Amino acid sequence: MVLETKGFHVAVVGATGAVGKRMLEMLEDSPFPVKKLSPLSSKRSAGKTVQFGDKEWTIEEAVPESFEGVDVALFSAGGSVSKQLAPEAVKRGAVVIDNTSAFRMDKDVPLVVPEVNEKELFNHHGIIANPNCSTIQMVVALEPIRKAFGLNRVLVSTYQAVSGAGISAMLELKNQTAAVLNGEKAEANILPVKGDAKHYQLAFNAIPQIDLFQPNDYTFEEMKMINETKKIMDDQDLKVSATCVRLPVEISHAETVYIEIDKDGVDASEIGESAAC
Ligand SMILES: NC(=O)c1ccc[n+]([C@@H]2O[C@H](COP(=O)([O-])OP(=O)(O)OC[C@H]3O[C@@H](n4cnc5c(N)ncnc54)[C@H](OP(=O)(O)O)[C@@H]3O)[C@@H](O)[C@H]2O)c1
Repeated sequence: MVLETKGFHVAVVGATGAVGKRMLEMLEDSPFPVKKLSPLSSKRSAGKTVQFGDKEWTIEEAVPESFEGVDVALFSAGGSVSKQLAPEAVKRGAVVIDNTSAFRMDKDVPLVVPEVNEKELFNHHGIIANPNCSTIQMVVALEPIRKAFGLNRVLVSTYQAVSGAGISAMLELKNQTAAVLNGEKAEANILPVKGDAKHYQLAFNAIPQIDLFQPNDYTFEEMKMINETKKIMDDQDLKVSATCVRLPVEISHAETVYIEIDKDGVDASEIGESAAC
């Protein structure tokens, strides 16, 4: 990466998605200097435009050549797209920040939440992964407590909005809600897992399944929270269990976290003070 430039060439893969759109908004609001933007998507959205800064940028289909001259590539178009195209971006000199689960557990890829393990950023080989959304907000709250008192067990329950399942799931919730309120049948074709055989209505409901069930009867989302927390906190002995529930809420995840710390004789107000730091 050429650091003396007056800005970076940034690619956003999945620029038309729920996450990609938010990435663009946040990038626009941040002081990070963007000299050139390459908004990328599948063939479906190629040719559409997106407003960024004072310019309209044309969205292009993501192909290996899209990454020529790119300094930073933000990936958020699903794991299979990352697996296929992130190495192509790295080959062409870009640093990839991958928002999908494709590389998170790869031992050569740092999984970073800056408030917890920022130093890992310097150990990358072209790809830096960022964790699952519910894991990020939890480890940010837990790290100061761990530093002050040690951490031994974490039991987390999440209450997750439909935005985490993408734009098509957000639309499904709206359509189901309208149908129920109009006394019509609510169609379920996407949730809880797009492409799976069984679908359930989320409107006026709660679904205790996010992603596919694994052989150990946890869902993949729950296993992501368990494994990613241990990797980010660099503690394979940390006991973690997770229950993840999808709620009929458009945006914003919530979670409750029960913890056991190493140190004896600490009262709740001391923990509150350390967490507020
Ligand atoms: N780390 C986190 O906190 C977090 C949170 C939520 C989601 N995610 C991950 O982020 C990814 C995107 O989620 P989302 O909610 O934004 O999904 P989404 O709303 O369904 O958007 C998907 C995006 O990917 C693009 N895309 C699909 N197939 C593609 C292909 N073959 N090549 C290039 N682009 C392609 C779509 O482009 P078109 O417009 O052309 O279809 C769209 O821009 C998922 O992997 C999800 O697991 C991570």
